[in-house]
Amino acid sequence: MTSTEIRQSFLDFFASKQHAVVPSSPVVLPTDPTLLFTNAGMNQFKDIFLGVRESRDRRVANTQKCIRVSGKHNDLEEVGIDTYHHTFFEMLGNWSFGDYYKREAITWAWELMTQVWGLPKQRLWATVYKDDDEAEGLWKEVTDIAHDHILRFDEKDNFWEMGETGPCGPCSEIHIDLTESGCGPELVNAGSPEVIELWNLVFIQYNRKSDGSLEDLPLKHVDTGMGFERVAAVLQGKKSNYDSDVFTPLLTRLQELSGEDYAGESAIAMRVIADHVRALSIAIADGVLPSNEGRGYVLRRLLRRAVRYGRRLGFKQPFMADLFPVVETVMGDVFPELRQNRERVLRALQAEEEGFAATLDRGMALFDEVVAELKREKQTLFPGDQAFKLYDTYGFPLDLTTLMASEQHLSVDQERFEALMEQQRERARLDRKDAVMGGDAEQLQALHARGVRTRFEGYDALERETELSVILAEGTEWEVLEEGMSGELILAETPFYAEAGGQLGDHGVIRGPEGEFEVWDTQRPLEGLTLHIGKVVQGRMAVKQRVGAVVNASRRGHVQYHHTATHLLNAALRELVSSTVRQAGSLVAPDRLRFDFTHYEAVPADQLEAIERRVNEWIMSDTPVQTYTMAYKDVPESGIIAVFDEKYGDEVRVVDIGGFSRELCGGTHVRETGQLGCFRIVSESAVAAGIRRIEAVCGWPAYEWTQREHDLVRSLAQRFSAPPDELMRRVESLIEQNKKLERTLKQQAVSSSKDQAGELLKKKRSVGDVPCIAEVVADQGIEGLRTILDEIRPQLASGVIVLGGAGEGKAAFVASVSADWIEQGLHAGKLIGTVAKLAGGGGGGQPHKAQAGGKQPDQVPAAIAEVPALIEAMRGS
Ligand code: ALA
Repeated sequence: MTSTEIRQSFLDFFASKQHAVVPSSPVVLPTDPTLLFTNAGMNQFKDIFLGVRESRDRRVANTQKCIRVSGKHNDLEEVGIDTYHHTFFEMLGNWSFGDYYKREAITWAWELMTQVWGLPKQRLWATVYKDDDEAEGLWKEVTDIAHDHILRFDEKDNFWEMGETGPCGPCSEIHIDLTESGCGPELVNAGSPEVIELWNLVFIQYNRKSDGSLEDLPLKHVDTGMGFERVAAVLQGKKSNYDSDVFTPLLTRLQELSGEDYAGESAIAMRVIADHVRALSIAIADGVLPSNEGRGYVLRRLLRRAVRYGRRLGFKQPFMADLFPVVETVMGDVFPELRQNRERVLRALQAEEEGFAATLDRGMALFDEVVAELKREKQTLFPGDQAFKLYDTYGFPLDLTTLMASEQHLSVDQERFEALMEQQRERARLDRKDAVMGGDAEQLQALHARGVRTRFEGYDALERETELSVILAEGTEWEVLEEGMSGELILAETPFYAEAGGQLGDHGVIRGPEGEFEVWDTQRPLEGLTLHIGKVVQGRMAVKQRVGAVVNASRRGHVQYHHTATHLLNAALRELVSSTVRQAGSLVAPDRLRFDFTHYEAVPADQLEAIERRVNEWIMSDTPVQTYTMAYKDVPESGIIAVFDEKYGDEVRVVDIGGFSRELCGGTHVRETGQLGCFRIVSESAVAAGIRRIEAVCGWPAYEWTQREHDLVRSLAQRFSAPPDELMRRVESLIEQNKKLERTLKQQAVSSSKDQAGELLKKKRSVGDVPCIAEVVADQGIEGLRTILDEIRPQLASGVIVLGGAGEGKAAFVASVSADWIEQGLHAGKLIGTVAKLAGGGGGGQPHKAQAGGKQPDQVPAAIAEVPALIEAMRGS
């Protein structure tokens, strides 16, 4: 059976048992930030198990794309070293949602394996959870497995959990014995490559809560998962997954590309690469791109590992993209998203590989140096400083350095590495703060430690009476700030929004009993500490006084309708461009918004138009914008957009616009979408590999933007004396007319150069026995002369032509010599060099053809007059 047939026979088998066959979910589940990547078939059904959502079907089956590179299920270290772990693999699974339970799950698993696929019963082993008498009893009752092939194991092997929290339960696994002569129970679950787990039947009945306790679920479920690549290898009689037809096409291609055999050390390298290119292709097709954080960094690590193994195979040029067509051929039918996103995958692989290639060799050289030194000194700990340098300067992920070190029997000083990482993060934080305040970070930390805090009261109010608690200027605290001095004020409470989440800080004034302070920026360098940055414009400000803080309402209004528009834009992008779009940065200003998002190609004009239209529809529906708080732990189930990796507190604030846009956000927003007035996209462009940017305006700036366009059309209409809807036609006809004129002009130029050529040919004379045309052509620059020369040359089969002219205040010359006279020692380049010198210039060229210029156009006739003498001199020499 081919692997395609094997996959199909699994799905057909469960279809025959009334299972609905459903598609794989993407490897990224946007609704579940607790998961980096989909790591099991059941992930997409988590809500159903928890009783949060109902399923249409009570029995389903599928093949699920899984990636196990982090968290509870992480197989990365084994990949390539052994022959049966993968970063990406397919999990074949069948599920019961409160329908059948252990009896059917066991009966059918046995039936499929032994009857449909004909696996030898004496080679199969079943394991059950240590106290699951029911499962053990069922194995004895409903199958004919040898009773001594049923083994009990504890939590580590037979209690399956999705992650730190979530659905879980006891499980029963089926292992196969691939040893020569058959094994005993001691090899089961012992990490032997010849006795491996094929299928896991999980009896989901609990929810693991974040405090570690188990809660009974309302219903009992079945969740099974079988390693497709493993079962394909077993059914094809192979001991290694890489020998099945899932992988052989990739290995063949790798051998072709590298010229290496699949053997020894090269085999490991090829396995790693074959594995990683599958994971990368699938994840990129599902919308993740290599980057410096979160999921993107996982991809970057995979790619860099693969590229480094590629060096072992002798690859000097990027090769990952060359493997993608094979991935597409093998999996494109099952996962059509590979085909749909081909360009994105190819571009991402290529760009990422090129990016790393630039530093890889230098990094490897540094690594080798360090290793040589360590070996000399008989040390075994690779210094954290060097690992950090490899990371920071050469882009080596820590796990790559660790891997390379382990091949040299060295370990890496991870603690030192982490300390250096932390120092770097701290420096970056301080840099940001310094830039923000021009002040002293330590000073602020001291204030913070002293308990100085500002309470934000500006969601609903724009004015507030409060106490001026601290005055800072030039990095020190002051009692009083006099007129004309700039500094930062800290208030006990404030309606001023400090820049965060892309939304710019508020402007406004703070009025005290003795003066007024103008605020031109608001920043929050430390949690809960807001700085009002500005200048005393009148009188003086003193600490401990009561002050009135007043936000510039018009500016805030403009900022917040752009903020609400950003959320609508994000929702429209997800709806109309791709559900995998992720926010990669934003700026919310009073006059515009900027939204960066992950996407590999330009958003075409018709999609931009559709997005603009959708946002305007939402605006016109005048939907209320609601905000509420919820527990962060409930976010994953809610489908609310959260920025992965962003740090959130336990309580988070949700901005909900009519249910079609729901995001975690601390910013300020309008009350109803109608306040946005209208929305216009101004531009769409690339920012970095895989990141696009949309700039847009709404409210008055949108009106003004539209007005400017309108004015432009109006003045064009006036200029053309045509109504606006005629403009297009008029412009097109002008372009057409222009083209015609250009054609006519060209023809005229050609015929005039023909005429001139005819005239010049008549002026042929002889210099000794050399036929020669040496003439001045009126009003011709170098271009015109060249055209004329090309006309005459074919007509003067033997001889010398030198033409001089003047155009744009410069002298110009061209010359040619026929082959027979070149043999006689004449040389167009040398000839013209001398001629041009006479007109204050220089030049040269080939023996047969040359051109030159000069600064003295009035000397052209005199220079040309010298040509006969020069020819004679050349012949004589
Ligand atoms: N969810 C189970 C597993 O991943 C089937 O092993």
